[in-house]
Amino acid sequence: MAVVREQMGLGLPYDVNGKAELRDAAAAENKLLPVHRWVPWIAGFSAQFVEDAIEAYLPKQGRRRQRVLDPFAGVGTTLVEALKAGCHAVGYEINAFAALAARAKVHCIDVRPASFAVEVDIFRSAMARFESEIDRRWAEGGPEAMAGVLDTLRAGSPAGFRSRIPFFSPPVEAKFLSALGHTAPLAEPHRALFRAALGATMISFSNYSYEPSLSSRPGAGKALIENASVTLPVCRKLDAMLEDIAWADANYGTIWRRQQREIVSGSYFNSALGRGTVSLLITSPPYMNNYHYVRNTRPQLYWLGLIQGPDDLRNYEQESFGKFWQTVRQAGAIDLAFDFPALAVEIARLRAYSVERGQYGGPGWANYVATYFNDCSRFIQLTKRQLRPGARAIIVVGNSIIQGIEFQVDQLLAELAERQGLTVEEVRLVRKKRVGNSIINSSVRNGREDGFTHKTRLYDAAVILRA
Ligand SMILES: C[S@@+](CC[C@H](N)C(=O)[O-])C[C@H]1O[C@@H](n2cnc3c(N)ncnc32)[C@H](O)[C@@H]1O
Repeated sequence: MAVVREQMGLGLPYDVNGKAELRDAAAAENKLLPVHRWVPWIAGFSAQFVEDAIEAYLPKQGRRRQRVLDPFAGVGTTLVEALKAGCHAVGYEINAFAALAARAKVHCIDVRPASFAVEVDIFRSAMARFESEIDRRWAEGGPEAMAGVLDTLRAGSPAGFRSRIPFFSPPVEAKFLSALGHTAPLAEPHRALFRAALGATMISFSNYSYEPSLSSRPGAGKALIENASVTLPVCRKLDAMLEDIAWADANYGTIWRRQQREIVSGSYFNSALGRGTVSLLITSPPYMNNYHYVRNTRPQLYWLGLIQGPDDLRNYEQESFGKFWQTVRQAGAIDLAFDFPALAVEIARLRAYSVERGQYGGPGWANYVATYFNDCSRFIQLTKRQLRPGARAIIVVGNSIIQGIEFQVDQLLAELAERQGLTVEEVRLVRKKRVGNSIINSSVRNGREDGFTHKTRLYDAAVILRA
C-alpha cells in the first residue's frame, strides 16, 4: 500500500495561516439554520462563512446594485446569504436536483405562508388517508395486494431508473408515487418546495442510505425497510419550510424580494454573464476526488423526473467540473492544457506510478488530476472576465491525496489565478480536518508508515483573489 510520499515541492509563497474573520467553512451548522436546513448537500459550505465573506468584501452601501455569483451553487448557500444581505444572486448548478433545491430556497419569499399552510394540510390529510389504506392492504395481503395499486401509480415511476435491489419496498413506492402525483398540479414555487421536500427525505424511507456515498442498506449492514410512512418525514420537512418562510418574510421580505434571483440549471462553463458584471464571487467547486454528486443523486434525479436515462447522467458527468476519475481513467493520456511545469512534473510522476494497474493505477489517476486542473484553469479564465475591476473571488477548496501524492489544490489554484492576471490576496486556512472524502492509499487514514516523517492533514482553504 502506498502512503503519502511527499508534498509537491512547489514552494509557493502563499500563507496558509488561519485568521479569525471567516468562520469555519464546514456546512454542519446549515442543518440548524432557517432555509439552509431544508436539503442537505455534501461538502456544502456554511452560511456563516458566506455571511462573513459578504460582510468583509462588499461595502454595505449600494448592495442592491451588486451581483454575487456562485458558479457551483449546490443547494444555494451563497445565493440565500446574498439575498439576505440585499444583493442580486446568480448561480449555476449542473445537478438538476441541487438546482431545484436552490430555486425552492431563493423563491420561497414569493410564497404566502397562509396559502402554503393550506396546501400542506391538504397534502397531509390526503396522504394520511392513502397511507392507512396502503398499510391495511399490505398487512392483509402483502405484495400481491399491492400489485393493482402499483400498476396504476407506476405511470409516474421512472422507466430509466435501475437499482441493484428494489429502491423502495412496494408499499413505500405506492406512497411515494402518490405523494409525487400530488405535487404535479401545484403552481411554482409551491411545486418546487414540495418536490425539494420529497427529494430531501426520500433516501430515509428507501432501501438505500448515504454512507456518505449512496449504498444499499443491506450493503451498509442495515435492515431493509419493508414499510414506512412517507407522509411523516415529508410533512415534517414541509412544516420546517413553512416556519422558515415566515421567518424569511418577517426578517428579510422586502430586501430579498426586490433582488434578482437567477439559478441556471446547467454548466458554469457555458455561462454568458457579461464582462465585469460580478461584484463578489463566493464558491466551492467540487473537490478533487471528493464525491460523485451525479451518482449519489441518481434516485432524486430519476424519481423527481429531472432526468430520463443514462445519456443524461453521462452528459452530467462529462460537463461536471473536473469530470470524475471513473469517466477519464480509460482515455489515452490526458495532459495539462496550459503551461505549468511544476504541476506537469507531478502529474508525470503520478502517471508512472503503479503502471501495472493501468487505469486503476497512476495512468488513470494522472488523467483525472490533469482534467481537474484543466477545469480549474477554464474556471479562472471565465471568472476573471466576469469580475468587476477590484472585485473579489472567494474560492473554498481542499487538498487531496492521490495515490500517495498530496495535491494542494488551494496553492495550485492561487498560482493559476496569478498566472492569468488575478491578484492573490491570501490563501486562508478555514478548516483543519476534513472528513468524509474518499482518499486513496493515504496516510491520513492509515497513520504514518515506514519511511515517512510527516502525516498529511486534510484541510479546507479559502483562496481570495482580486480582479
Ligand atoms: C462543493 S459543491 C457546492 C456546494 C455549495 N457551496 C453549497 O453550499 O450547497 C459543488 C457543486 O458544483 C456542482 N457542479 C459541478 N460541475 C459543475 C459545472 N460545470 N457547472 C455548475 N455546477 C457544477 C456540483 O453539482 C456541486 O453541487
